[in-house]
Amino acid sequence: MPQEYKLILKHADEPGYTPDIECYLRHGGYDALKKALALQPKDLPDGRKLSGPEQIRQGVMASGLRGRGGAGFPTGIKWKTVADCPAGKKYVVVNADEGDSGTFADRMIMEGDPLSLIEGMTICAFAIGADKGYIYLRAEYPIAAEIIEEALIAARAAGALGKNVRGSNLSFDIELRMGAGAYVCGEETSLLESLEGKRGIVRAKPPLPAHVGLFGKPTVVNNVLSMATAPMILADGGAAYHALGMDRSRGTIPLQIAGNVKYAGLCEVPFGLKLGEIVNDIGGGTLSGRPVRAVQVGGPLGAYVPVSLFDTPFDYEAYTKVDSLIGHGGLVVFDDTVDMSWMARFGMEFCAIESCGKCTPCRIGSTRGVETIDKIRAGENVAANIELLKDLCQTMKLGSLCALGGFAPYPVESALRHFPEDFHKPALEAAAE
Ligand SMILES: Cc1cc2nc3c(=O)[nH]c(=O)nc-3n(C[C@H](O)[C@H](O)[C@H](O)COP(=O)(O)O)c2cc1C
Ligand code: SF4
Repeated sequence: MPQEYKLILKHADEPGYTPDIECYLRHGGYDALKKALALQPKDLPDGRKLSGPEQIRQGVMASGLRGRGGAGFPTGIKWKTVADCPAGKKYVVVNADEGDSGTFADRMIMEGDPLSLIEGMTICAFAIGADKGYIYLRAEYPIAAEIIEEALIAARAAGALGKNVRGSNLSFDIELRMGAGAYVCGEETSLLESLEGKRGIVRAKPPLPAHVGLFGKPTVVNNVLSMATAPMILADGGAAYHALGMDRSRGTIPLQIAGNVKYAGLCEVPFGLKLGEIVNDIGGGTLSGRPVRAVQVGGPLGAYVPVSLFDTPFDYEAYTKVDSLIGHGGLVVFDDTVDMSWMARFGMEFCAIESCGKCTPCRIGSTRGVETIDKIRAGENVAANIELLKDLCQTMKLGSLCALGGFAPYPVESALRHFPEDFHKPALEAAAE
C-alpha cells in the first residue's frame, strides 16, 4: 500500500491545527522567512559574492520544484528570470483560480494553512525584489477568501507584511482579488488581464509575464502549491526536497482523486507512483464495484488513460510520453459503463464554452469539433468524420494561442485512440440487428 507523505499538507491535515498566526508560529511558521532575511552574502571561488536573494533562488532551483499549476515549469528559473530584469517595480502573483475539475488542493492550503502561502509569497518577493503581491482567487471559494483576509491582517499586525518586514529592508504587502468565474482566467496571461480590471482574454507570448507581466512589469505567477512550498524548501534546504520523487519530477504532489472511486479525496505522495497504485490501492477501485475503464488525469484538458497504461508513473515526462499530462494532479475515475464518445464530446464542449475567443482554432474549432462528434455518434459518415476530427485536433493543437485550445484535443484523441469501439456504436448496433 503506497504511503502518504505530507509536506505541503502537513499543517492543513494535522488534527487540531488552526489557520491563525499563533498556531502557525507554534509550528515553526515564519522561521524560513527569518532565515531568508538573515542570509549573509556568501563568498564564491571566483571572488564574487552570492547575495541572500541569490542564495534563495539557487535553493529553489536545487529543489527541482516545478510549477504545480499544470505546465510544470521550474519555479527557480521563473524567479531568476524576474530577478534578472532591471530593478524597478515587480510583482508576485498567486494563481488561486483552481479551475480543473475535481481539484481542491489549493483550497485546502488556503483554508487550512494560509500563512504558508503568505510566507512563501514574502520569501519570493525578497528573492526577486518585489514589493507588491496579489492572490487571484476564484469566486467559488468564499471561505478561503475570508480565511486569507484574516491571515493577511494577522501577518501585517505581526510585522510579517508591510513596511520593513520583521525589521528588514524588505517592504511587501499582498492584496486578495476575486475572479468572476471563468476557466480561462486561470491561464496566467488572462489572469493578469483580469487583475488589471479588463476582460479575461489571453495575451500572446512572448513577452512572458516574467518580463512583461502585471501592469507591464516583470511578474512571477505561481500556483498556490508552488508558492506555499517555498518556506519548507528554505527551512530544510533544496536538497531535502529534491531527495523525493523521480527523474525530473521532484518532491511530492497532492493527488486529488474523484469520480467513480471508493475513497475519493486528497493524498500527498512523492512523484513516481504508478497510476494503478493510485486508483486501486489509494482510491480502492470504483465505488460502483465495476471494473475501471478510464481515468482522466490532469483536469478537463487531460487525456483519458486506459487500464493498459496503469504502469505509468506519476511523472511529468512519463505522462508526456503517453500523450497525456498530469496538470494540477486531478484524477477522475470512470467504470466500464462510461461512453467514451460522450466523454470526448464533453471535452470539446467544455473548450467551446470556456474559450476566450481570441484565436480561431479554439473558438471555431471546438464548436466544429462538437458538431463532428455528434455526427459520429449519430452514425453519419463515421470513418470520414473521425478523420476530420483527428485533423481538427491537430489544427487546434498546433494553431491555438494557449493551452486551452492546444490541450482540448487530449481528451478527444485519447478517447479515439484507446476506446475506438465507442465511436462506432451505431454501426456496431446496426450490424448486430
Ligand atoms: C486554460 C488554462 C487554465 C489554467 N488554470 C490554472 C489554474 O486554475 N491554476 C493554476 O495555478 N494554473 C492554471 N493554469 C496554468 C497557468 O497558466 C500558469 O502556468 C501557472 O499559474 C503558473 O504557475 P506555476 O508555475 O506555479 O504552475 C492554467 C492554464 C490554462 C491554459
Ligand atoms: S486557445 Fe482558446 S482560450 Fe486560448 S487564446 Fe485561443 S481562443 Fe482563447
